Amino acid sequence: MRCASLALALLFAGCGRDAERAALAREALPQEVLVGALRASPLPPPPADPTNAYAEDPRAAALGRSLFYDARFSSNGEISCASCHDPDLDWGDGAVTATGIASFGVHTPSLWNVAYNRWFFWDGRADTLWAQAVQPWEHPDEMGGDRVSFVRLLLDDSELSARYEELFGALPDVSGWPSSARPVDEGSSDPMHSAWLGMSAQSKVEATRVIVNLAKSVAAFQRQMVTSETAFDRYIRGLRHGAAEDLAAFGEEELKGMELFFGDARCHLCHHGPLFTDLEFHDVRLPYGVNESGEEVREMGRWDGIGAVLEDPLNSDGDFSDAPALLSGEAPSVSGSARGHLEFLLRSPHTKGEFKTPGLRNAARTAPFTHRGVYANLEEVVRHYSELADAPAKRHADAEEILVPVHLDDGEVSALVAFLEALSSPRPGEELRAPGAR
Ligand code: HEC
Ligand code: HEC
Repeated sequence: MRCASLALALLFAGCGRDAERAALAREALPQEVLVGALRASPLPPPPADPTNAYAEDPRAAALGRSLFYDARFSSNGEISCASCHDPDLDWGDGAVTATGIASFGVHTPSLWNVAYNRWFFWDGRADTLWAQAVQPWEHPDEMGGDRVSFVRLLLDDSELSARYEELFGALPDVSGWPSSARPVDEGSSDPMHSAWLGMSAQSKVEATRVIVNLAKSVAAFQRQMVTSETAFDRYIRGLRHGAAEDLAAFGEEELKGMELFFGDARCHLCHHGPLFTDLEFHDVRLPYGVNESGEEVREMGRWDGIGAVLEDPLNSDGDFSDAPALLSGEAPSVSGSARGHLEFLLRSPHTKGEFKTPGLRNAARTAPFTHRGVYANLEEVVRHYSELADAPAKRHADAEEILVPVHLDDGEVSALVAFLEALSSPRPGEELRAPGAR
């Protein structure tokens, strides 16, 4: 219950007690912790995506749901998006690093709350949710598919092509097209490359338009992967309105963890707001990986990501984006990804080795952790931040200033873990699982 005013509150003994209880609970918290915690709940709906005209279209989302679980969009017919982003594993795969057609040395991130992101992939090399999807479909190590065989696949499946054409209009005429082709890096020996170069400019655009439309549908589906209420949200509602059962959502351990998170442990400096991330990139000084010859691998992270997103013909400034071009005179959007923000990307030296700050809602269920899956559980993550004992000895010149050892004792480590566990909400419901599957 909300108390309109103190006088009114006094008329309702219950409300008065609630207001008093809330005030007492708030007063018990340091100001910095209270502000950080109140800012982190509740979770608002995802921001609009002006680059995707189908983002809110339920038919596109339904098509996207089918595509997400469809293994025919891989070169061996065995891998779908859900092979690595499994609803039973909170949209992850539980593995240290991912394996598709081949293995690659990156950990699969969960897709919970992915629609709130400004940048996609650990290095942010895509700036829209739809442009992201094109990459796993066509990456030779991931699903190994290609935009030309996708058009052929649609044409051969009358049910799927009817759903596609209802939304996006007629599929292109593929007579004279190669059986498969996709753009590949300049000078590559991949046979897909020469097949792609042999296509006319118009057919290249037509094939790209189809994979982009499919990707916009998958993005519309992924916008529904939003976490629901957690113990933390109930506790924060308690802090606002004072209902005893809401305040009871947190015990002493979670409360202590919350105070550390938004206070002395400094986690909120990067993990803040309702998603528990600043949506930006940092270097948390993970131990370096080693290659087959035993040499240390210095990853470039965000540095490479910035280069790639600026060059990507599918970025939000490109011809396949639905956001109005700056020259059109239409008002640019203020929220989310919109044309124009790429101009402000600065490839400064400190972006070397930086990776995207993951959101922490439901993180407790998505072990192992970090972009290389180096920590097996939350306790290991927290112990890393505590002493930075496993961090590479030399910091590069532009190293992260925010990151310092925070020296936590064992009790504080387990309190932080208890707090992170209190950010969990139920697993994906039926409406997000494979259509027709039980
Ligand atoms: C072989 C396993 C695999 C498959 C198949 C796969 N993914 Fe991923 N996904 C990953 C990995 C690994 C990353 C992180 C890669 C990176 O950042 O370099 C990722 C990243 C993502 C991201 C970015 C998340 C973020 O927070 O930035 C999204 C969204 C995503 N995948 C959606 C999809 C969709 C949609 C499909 C199907 C079209 C798909 N994935 C297929 C493993 C996979
Ligand atoms: C300097 C910014 C920064 C600070 C401070 C920080 N984090 Fe992180 N956190 C990150 C980034 C960036 C990553 C991803 C690192 C990577 O994969 O290379 C991350 C990863 C994580 C992960 C793994 C999530 C996943 O899905 O893999 C957890 C859990 C986490 N942090 C919790 C915390 C806690 C708890 C604290 C406070 C003790 C904290 N972080 C402090 C930026 C930060």
